[in-house]
Amino acid sequence: MPPTLKLILVAGARPNFMKVAPLIHAARRHNADASAATRFDCRLVHTGQHYDDAMSEVFFRELGIPKPDVNLNVGSSSHATQTANVMIGFEKVCLDEKPDWLVVFGDVNSTVACTLVAVKLGIKVAHVEAGLRSGDRTMPEEINRLVTDSIADLLLTPSEDGNENLRREGVAEERIKLVGNIMIDSLVANLEQARRSKILQECGVQPGNYLYVTLHRPANVDDRASLTAIAGELKRLAAKTPVVFPVHPRTRKMFSEFGLELNGDSGCHLLDPVGYHDSVCLTENARLVLTDSGGLQEESTYFRTPCLTLRPNTERPVTINVGSNRLTKISTLAEDLNQVLAASPRLGRLPEMWDGKTSERILAALAAV
Ligand code: UD1
Repeated sequence: MPPTLKLILVAGARPNFMKVAPLIHAARRHNADASAATRFDCRLVHTGQHYDDAMSEVFFRELGIPKPDVNLNVGSSSHATQTANVMIGFEKVCLDEKPDWLVVFGDVNSTVACTLVAVKLGIKVAHVEAGLRSGDRTMPEEINRLVTDSIADLLLTPSEDGNENLRREGVAEERIKLVGNIMIDSLVANLEQARRSKILQECGVQPGNYLYVTLHRPANVDDRASLTAIAGELKRLAAKTPVVFPVHPRTRKMFSEFGLELNGDSGCHLLDPVGYHDSVCLTENARLVLTDSGGLQEESTYFRTPCLTLRPNTERPVTINVGSNRLTKISTLAEDLNQVLAASPRLGRLPEMWDGKTSERILAALAAV
């Protein structure tokens, strides 16, 4: 029998699910191959950081992710409480399971919490989507990235800028491995199903003639002045081009707290959070994506759909360098939008190794250590 590597894979919040799914599927394919030199015994831990059907379950169904072996059910709370609760629950899982590797994804609180636990128990940690830096330490995700990368053993980067950031921080070359963007594995595998989505008809919008908007960053939505200005700008935009805006629970809560409203008949289609296939369909067919999400900056780049990112910085500069994405702010949004709408409806090109084969490269990297 070939040697078996026992992996714990951790997913906690919405952006983790499309990253964990392709690795689970690749491990299954790998194990079914009689000639494979290593087997992977995967255990899936859901921390419960996200828990609503629309923020969690729908992705399990659509992406064919098996039921988690463990759910820590931590739920929402302050950063310290949430991180601490993940750590307390996850320590027990590690002691019970004694894995060879912990594999964590992205930059959410569950990522850093589980990494801290495993490293202290002497369990090797691989970080998928390592090396990304916005340079903005007011973002909780940037702190999660810095801490995770400074203590994880194997740093699996999506693009060359990740390698450069890690080298600049003094990380030894043997800890860094460029594997490509695992989100794109999910995108490629789900393209056909996404193209069957009925979301455009449900919203009554035409391909190439609507703006797909998602906003949930605390800096944009937790601040009254900022969210008020955004709502005003969206109303103005929607008067000219329909806006499809699935509203994240954080954003919905803040709209209600600040007494803001986006009128349904203003051309704004406000939806509950949408599933993966609907979101991919909306991204492929939008005239323009306006977002503060990391994932949507990447998915729009894959489709060459123009993207405006409502943030002062991005940890995904490759999406800007290839030409599909640019940063914007409320004061210049109307002007930036006009410029993008005057340009080609497809912008940019595909970055290197965004080819749907990142999971295979990750398994090879784990087996090689
Ligand atoms: C988290 C991640 C962020 C990621 C985002 C994607 C961190 C620090 N933040 O931010 O990086 O981009 O997820 O969605 O890890 N809520 C629900 N149902 C849920 C989950 C949350 O209603 O299933 C509500 C709760 O009121 C909660 C609020 O949304 O207080 C925010 O959720 P939280 O997980 O704290 O942060 P996100 O803004 O979702």
